[in-house]
Amino acid sequence: MHNFPSVLENVQDLTKDQIEGLLALAHKFKNQPDMVAGQGLFLGKRPIVANSFLENSTRTRHSFALAIQKLGLTYLDFNAEQSGLKKGESLEETFLTLFAQGVDLCVLRTSKSEELSQFKASPPIKLINGGDGINQHPTQALLDLMTFQEVLGDLQDKKIAIIGDCFHSRVTHSLVALLPLFGAQIRCVGPEIFWMSQADQSGSFSQTANFEESLAWADAVYLLRLQRERHQKMQETRGEEINKILDDYPKNYGLSEERLQKINPQVPVFHPGPANIGVEICSRVIKSPNYRGHHQVVNSIPMRMAIISSILLNGDKNVGIHAGHPIRNL
Ligand code: CP
Repeated sequence: MHNFPSVLENVQDLTKDQIEGLLALAHKFKNQPDMVAGQGLFLGKRPIVANSFLENSTRTRHSFALAIQKLGLTYLDFNAEQSGLKKGESLEETFLTLFAQGVDLCVLRTSKSEELSQFKASPPIKLINGGDGINQHPTQALLDLMTFQEVLGDLQDKKIAIIGDCFHSRVTHSLVALLPLFGAQIRCVGPEIFWMSQADQSGSFSQTANFEESLAWADAVYLLRLQRERHQKMQETRGEEINKILDDYPKNYGLSEERLQKINPQVPVFHPGPANIGVEICSRVIKSPNYRGHHQVVNSIPMRMAIISSILLNGDKNVGIHAGHPIRNL
């Protein structure tokens, strides 16, 4: 896709036209037999794509791996634990090394927010953000957009309640930037300590602590995990308060079958995963027809195929050594 960015860090890096192009391409891949998915796209070349996950992942890591292979590309599984990163090598030098080895594109998951920003002006390699700290998870939001549209139809004026730890949720930061472009109204729901900052809010956005009223209001609910591994700062300053909120969370904000049946029995329930059964969702809801988490997983592969091919085919030559990075002994 022409003018598609070489570094996809945030959903704001894409125009609405580019997002609509991704949705169209993802639907094409979804409806195409596997064997011909990438046929003819890469004009006889076989690009190499690396997965570099510096944080745990089940869905993102494996769906990128499968998307790369379904496109007929060469897949490199970059093992961060056994790499030079553990000996103090910088991320930039790591990417330049991969580029010199012929890798065209790298998917990065990292616990550091906005770690990819430094590479935008002069990319050492083409890059996709596979989730960075509490900043964004753009590919998850794009596959969620595809799934919301398949389940709800046109998103204009549709009401989506995102329930849980929105402040620490990179997916929520991407969804809040993305879904209003398609007319959806977003309401973040949860204890005030987990509310989004002012900077994240736009006209079609609201937030509340009222779970049951929001469940009744919603055309779709999107549940979040409590991201305890990102609570360190809050634990230092408001430890007692947050521990009580976490202890009471299943009672106050957990989606039980009883609540679902009583308040909004038809509402579709989304979750980016990993889900914590007995905390934000009960086992009967996850097994119910309302639950769309596996629909999201199905769509993750064609959407990531669309994103990978759009970056690889963006025509940008200003990457790696061509972006002014010296590579020795070529
Ligand atoms: N949705 C998501 O990012 O899940 P993983 O952490 O399993 O990749």
